[in-house]
Amino acid sequence: MPFVKNVLCIGAGYVGGPTMAVIAQKCPDYRITVVDINPQRIADWNSDDLPIYEPGLLEVVKSCRGRNLFFSTDIAGSIRQADIIFVSVNTPTKTYGEGAGMASDLQYWEKTAHEILKYAESDKIIVEKSTLPVRTAEAMERILKSSGNSVHFEVLSNPEFLAEGSAVKDLLNPDRVLIGGQAHPKGQKAIGELTDLYANWVPRDRIITTNLWSSELSKLVANAFLAQRISSINSISALCEKTDADVSEIARAIGTDQRIGNRFLMASVGFGGSCFRKDILNLVYIARSYGLNEVADYWHQVVQLNDFQKNRFVHRMLTEMFNTVSGKKIAAFGFAFKAETGDTRDSAAITIVEKLLEERALVRLTDPQALSNARKDLIDSSLLSFHDNPYEAAEECHAIAVLTEWPLYRSLDYHRIYSAMKKPAFIFDGRNILDHQTLHRIGFNVFPLGKSALTHF
Ligand code: NAD
Ligand code: UGA
Repeated sequence: MPFVKNVLCIGAGYVGGPTMAVIAQKCPDYRITVVDINPQRIADWNSDDLPIYEPGLLEVVKSCRGRNLFFSTDIAGSIRQADIIFVSVNTPTKTYGEGAGMASDLQYWEKTAHEILKYAESDKIIVEKSTLPVRTAEAMERILKSSGNSVHFEVLSNPEFLAEGSAVKDLLNPDRVLIGGQAHPKGQKAIGELTDLYANWVPRDRIITTNLWSSELSKLVANAFLAQRISSINSISALCEKTDADVSEIARAIGTDQRIGNRFLMASVGFGGSCFRKDILNLVYIARSYGLNEVADYWHQVVQLNDFQKNRFVHRMLTEMFNTVSGKKIAAFGFAFKAETGDTRDSAAITIVEKLLEERALVRLTDPQALSNARKDLIDSSLLSFHDNPYEAAEECHAIAVLTEWPLYRSLDYHRIYSAMKKPAFIFDGRNILDHQTLHRIGFNVFPLGKSALTHF
């Protein structure tokens, strides 16, 4: 049976890979190809050892790989064949020149635009899947129209809202799919084609269509609002530690108000991940570039509060451990930026471990998925060691710092851990996932986040 459409995704990363795998599974009559400039990534997608860890992903990939899902390095040939091209390349924060540290680095995105222009021989729908500054589609259109040939490109914005660790679940059952396009007939026709693709499994009333600029900006705003909630509750966690209020009780008390809602109110060592920080900084940069300094300052504070929270956590460890951790062994439980992923990009644990090393602590790092990334993130140091086994990591330690909310850390035998630790033994629960009363009864000095400490002093 011939396929109804050829779909291409440029960029086989955390978004491109899982998104295309789910589209392939749900749309068996579409032929889906995913390409990347990194041949190793493509080889990994073609193996059973996928380049990213996501629960359920291997099963989805295996269900359609070789049937209507293909991973390839042939970028030119795949562009020629495609009817719809998703662009899902990375858009990190710029590290050089104007806007360094704030603006989006659009070099990878622009390269793909030029490649599409170079190889395309027939009309195509170009779908921005990457998170981009508002009005990027305008630049994309200008590049694509620059050759003056008769090929027509219709640019749509279709930002991705999946969260890592639950990517497959989020893709199979999204809260919404957002599609932005132009109001003219060709724009509306393209929106219709993309809507039809998603309608293979997403109810049509969950597919929202808007103009291009609302769609692009909505993605930045969604991440900014989510991160803002975390910074809000984290700011309150600092106040709780001074006043004997309990941040979990507060989250519960306010979260039952339906207008506030109970999700994303977990105090933590700070939000991480590849996107929150970069997308808010991008929003700040855009607002400032339009002269909206009050708007920029407002959102910048969300990131600044997150930095404060990470520093505060280390400062508390230092103060409570008698103002020095030098030469003391500290087990870091978790390095991933959240549970159920091996991703460590912008993980709060990076800052915390680096600061502990600066204080000359002997950091013993453990994580069920993120150790290989941790080895790349951290500068080689004789003060640092990596351990698959959390019991081994905690041996002879003065303190444990819980940095990622892996459920595994809840079910450990803390009697066993305590007996192998130096005394007095400390636990700093940066995710509030442990049973603090029980730990205290075992003998630990327990420092939850945003709650009173339970000590034996
Ligand atoms: P990633 O770094 O995991 O993947 C991007 C891939 O694009 C890489 O494999 C890279 O080699 C490839 N690439 C770069 N330039 C290329 C080119 N010219 N041709 C072919 N391939 C090229 O990034 P990601 O996490 O998948 O994020 C992609 C975009 O999606 C970003 O804009 C990000 O903000 C956004 N986003 C990410 C998430 C997430 O959870 N990671 C969620 C929603 C949106
Ligand atoms: C986030 C958004 O949730 C996705 O909708 C979005 O698509 C994605 O960013 C993106 O654009 O990249 P992700 O970063 O994968 O997804 O993970 P989240 O679950 O949002 O967690 C982000 C960070 O916030 C983690 O470090 C997590 O531990 C922290 N967090 C989350 C808290 O500290 N408290 C909470 O209550 C929730």
